[in-house]
Amino acid sequence: MEKEIAKQLIAKLVKELNEYSFSYYSLAKSLISDRQFEDSLAKLIELEKEFPEFIDPSSPTNRVGGYVSSKFEKYKHSQKMLSLGNVFNKEELLNFDKQIKKLSGLKTIEYIAEAKIDGLSIVLIYQKGKLIKALTRGDGVVGEEVTHNIKTIKDIPLTIDFKDDLEVRGEVFFFDKDFEALNQRQLKNNNKLFANSRNAAAGSIRQLDSKITATRKLSTFIYYYINPQNDNIFKQSDALETIKKLKFHINDKYYVGDIEGVWNFISQLENIRSEIGYPIDGIVIKVNDLNLYDKIGTTVKVPKWATAYKFRAEVTTTKLIDISVNVGRTGKVNYNAILEPVQLCGTTVSNATLHNAKYITDLDIRIGATVKIKKAGDIIPKVLGVVKDENFTKLAPWEGVKFCPVCNSELINNEAYVDYFCPNKKCASRILESIIHFVSRVAMDIAGLGESIVKKFHKLGILNDVSDIYKIKDQKEIILKIEGFGDKSIDKLITAIEKSKTNSLERLLFGLGIKNIGFKNATIIAKRFMTLEAIMNLKMTDLNNISSFGTVVKNSLINWISQIDNQLIVEKLIEAGLNDQYLGIKLMTNKLVDKTFSITGVLSQPRNKVKELIEVNGGVFSNSLTKNVQFLIDNNEDSNSAKHKLAKSRNIEIINEATFLKMLA
Ligand code: IVH
Repeated sequence: MEKEIAKQLIAKLVKELNEYSFSYYSLAKSLISDRQFEDSLAKLIELEKEFPEFIDPSSPTNRVGGYVSSKFEKYKHSQKMLSLGNVFNKEELLNFDKQIKKLSGLKTIEYIAEAKIDGLSIVLIYQKGKLIKALTRGDGVVGEEVTHNIKTIKDIPLTIDFKDDLEVRGEVFFFDKDFEALNQRQLKNNNKLFANSRNAAAGSIRQLDSKITATRKLSTFIYYYINPQNDNIFKQSDALETIKKLKFHINDKYYVGDIEGVWNFISQLENIRSEIGYPIDGIVIKVNDLNLYDKIGTTVKVPKWATAYKFRAEVTTTKLIDISVNVGRTGKVNYNAILEPVQLCGTTVSNATLHNAKYITDLDIRIGATVKIKKAGDIIPKVLGVVKDENFTKLAPWEGVKFCPVCNSELINNEAYVDYFCPNKKCASRILESIIHFVSRVAMDIAGLGESIVKKFHKLGILNDVSDIYKIKDQKEIILKIEGFGDKSIDKLITAIEKSKTNSLERLLFGLGIKNIGFKNATIIAKRFMTLEAIMNLKMTDLNNISSFGTVVKNSLINWISQIDNQLIVEKLIEAGLNDQYLGIKLMTNKLVDKTFSITGVLSQPRNKVKELIEVNGGVFSNSLTKNVQFLIDNNEDSNSAKHKLAKSRNIEIINEATFLKMLA
């Protein structure tokens, strides 16, 4: 083909395909069939291959991913990314309005209310109309560069019709249908499920391999125009419309008007929240007149010209079809509600936890009853209680379970824990669950040894405890007989098993599945005692002065190491050649041992730096103010933040950064 013709054809295809995409992804209007789109795209790929000199930066072929980075570069934001204050009811909303009127000196205020998208905030930077950088929020001051991943998102324009530099901000999220499809795929491929849409969005954007991001159907709503006044935009609603004209995807569901109208809008949206098709956790209310922002001002953390109305956690009702019972690795019996599928927070729910037997009998939960369920950010929702309607009285009370559903041993009731246990250490369910836990991602992370394979190996008699995993390499012949296994897949599995031998001690310790020793406690213990041998020889007195966890955890650890069968397993694991040393952060000093810190507010250095300082000096960092926290680092002595107030009410010592640094001197 002649060069000039190819050039024109490429330009024409790029323009058309981008128009189709914009219409499809941002306006929800299909202009051509999927088939026609794919054909045109294939034609473009072909032409670009032959004439690479004509590849345009806005070409949709730039979106396929394929760039693998080793880490995310950090960049300072042009303007700090603030968070928002909260209001939870009408009274607090009206107080916000009063405050705005006071600060602005005006009697009437026009507001704009937008859905608060529950995703991941993103910064898009364009130079001379070309997308050159995309950053995550990071700590609000410094963000991480994720341009390669962002370019795979179909509703983000790679080029815009805009001569100067432009920065916009918005939210990356999954439409409910795309999130559900993603989790279905994860399930099918034996991958971890995402707890919620926001985690999935964050995980997808923080991928090192942009090819993976390209397979996830992420979307964006852009809602923030940096320095709008420079471009003669004086209202947030005009900023949104300008953003839309530039062919970004905006959320059209916004309201402009007075505070009463805002309240109506909030009520309307809260009602249709679960049917709206994307995750929202509230409504953002902003003053519409951008010229008032300077006058109204901001605090260190949040603007005073905006706030967020937070929705209550969503509750719904459905029928309880059955109560399923399974036995975990410690022998603990877990009870699960099997539900008639129902929509909740945008996803289909068919399971919910019931905690323990006492919970079920205390609430008089009966099979066949209508139950109330709630989702609180986890995959599995909770059963809150039952609806005592006419149907309920006709149902038989739940009888409970007396025998292990797997090995038929009589269950024992541990009254202190309100839980039932299967006492049989050889119970197949306990063995299977402990192996599944051992190989899981957070523990030894052995890919390829999923639940169904563990079950098959156990059935064949080649996997009876965790140490048998390291003998799998001698069982090739038996395994080859299993359908779906070939030389290649066995070798891959063996490589993964061998690799796990080099894991740091905390993974192994956590993998052993000691009751009450989660990953965090395992890390504290591993860091403190450094080798598995030292841990196996611990006495209660050695644990006395650890303040990061209480006696329940200490007793549990001492009890576990004192049991002969556990000692035997540890011996076998060490014999198999597993690393038994802590390889993580090497302590610089012991100055902060037994001290737990939390942080709030702005520090002179990035939070992660301070966190690292705490840890290399033997201390523990906690994100939230758990009961173990002794110090809250906050440079603002009379801060009004919730964390500061909570720390005060709990008598947690509040120290500033300088005092903290003195502790290390
Ligand atoms: S405006 C200075 N508008 O909510 C105010 N934020 O707590 C800038 N968010 O992390 C934010 N939807 O990512 C704004 N329509 C919306 C939003 C929104 C979601 C997120 C944002 C930020 C958080 C604020």
